[in-house]
Amino acid sequence: MQDCTKLYVHDITWQSRAARLHPAGERATLYICHACSALCLSIPKIVSNAKKYGQRIDMSAFEDYQKVCKYYDEFRYPIGAETELRELCRLGKPLKDVHIADIGCGTGNYSKYFLDNGVGKVSMFDGSEGMLSYAKTKVADYVAEGRVSHCETLQLPNPLPDGQQYDVICMNFVLHHLGSPDDDASTRTFPKATAALRNIYASLKSGGHFILLTCLKPQLKTSMWYHGLIDDLDSIFEAPIMDLAYGDYSTLEKTLKGIGFDKMEATVPLHETLMKPVHYYNIDAVFDPKFLQADSTFTLLRNRSKNSGSNETDALHQRLRKLKESNKAEAFMERQEELRRTYGCATVITARKP
Ligand SMILES: C[S@@+](CC[C@H](N)C(=O)[O-])C[C@H]1O[C@@H](n2cnc3c(N)ncnc32)[C@H](O)[C@@H]1O
Repeated sequence: MQDCTKLYVHDITWQSRAARLHPAGERATLYICHACSALCLSIPKIVSNAKKYGQRIDMSAFEDYQKVCKYYDEFRYPIGAETELRELCRLGKPLKDVHIADIGCGTGNYSKYFLDNGVGKVSMFDGSEGMLSYAKTKVADYVAEGRVSHCETLQLPNPLPDGQQYDVICMNFVLHHLGSPDDDASTRTFPKATAALRNIYASLKSGGHFILLTCLKPQLKTSMWYHGLIDDLDSIFEAPIMDLAYGDYSTLEKTLKGIGFDKMEATVPLHETLMKPVHYYNIDAVFDPKFLQADSTFTLLRNRSKNSGSNETDALHQRLRKLKESNKAEAFMERQEELRRTYGCATVITARKP
């Protein structure tokens, strides 16, 4: 017996995988999962890709949100929410009549912002029970008022429940978690992410809007001032899904238009930082393990460290300590911040279903 949480198995459809992999000489092993008792299939190529990119098979490709949920709200806030709200105002109907689905809602920061600002109804979905437990507390008053239709688990790429048609669906900082070991950047094949996007399209009303908040490639390097202390930052984002989710605008445009969306627009909120400013501009926050938990970059850095046998978080801390000792840390931060204020750290992309 094996534990399938160590392997990539849940998205596999037995027939298509077996049929595709068999001619290439792959050997598949059928086993009963120790943890969930499901009948599972382990295929070496998929498992080794999953290990290479540090991918988890249960939900996010690399992050454990059951742990992260404890620290998320201390350090994160809904960057870009104001821009997203402006998009809702452009729908041509009163905000009180708008129903938005927040997919991968996490601890509910965006949903709460929309509800606080007059959006009529919100449906909230996330794959992590831990993140959702914080979300439920946060919007409890709105649940009582009947303005939260759903606040429940949904594992993407599964479709949204009920065949409900939404005015708007937003997905903030989630797409990069939808990697699968079957992704191939050279052929622009991203089965899990594309399936999620297709299901989103299907759940929108005609004329409805999809809002995607992500970080584009030119923004990655400068999205946080302390990223400038990480060697070869690009290589920690080397999993193929990053080509789509953290790639360039035209790749996302092609993918979304290929699904059927039209009228795309992009806005960069240059005035906002990803982490709450009170912590982001505190140099010592970077030494706080809780702060690091709230930025997935450090999970990816730890994964790269595991492969290379080094401790790159320690190396980053040493660099920062040296800068502090020579009174150069503030100047370093300011130089990096000039770049962040030029490129921004995230982009709000909107697309319309015709
Ligand atoms: C970086 S957090 C963003 C949370 C929220 N949207 C925000 O911006 O505050 C990513 C969220 O995606 C969720 N997630 C990742 N993979 C998922 C999947 N396959 N299905 C559903 N949710 C997923 C995680 O549980 C987590 O809450």
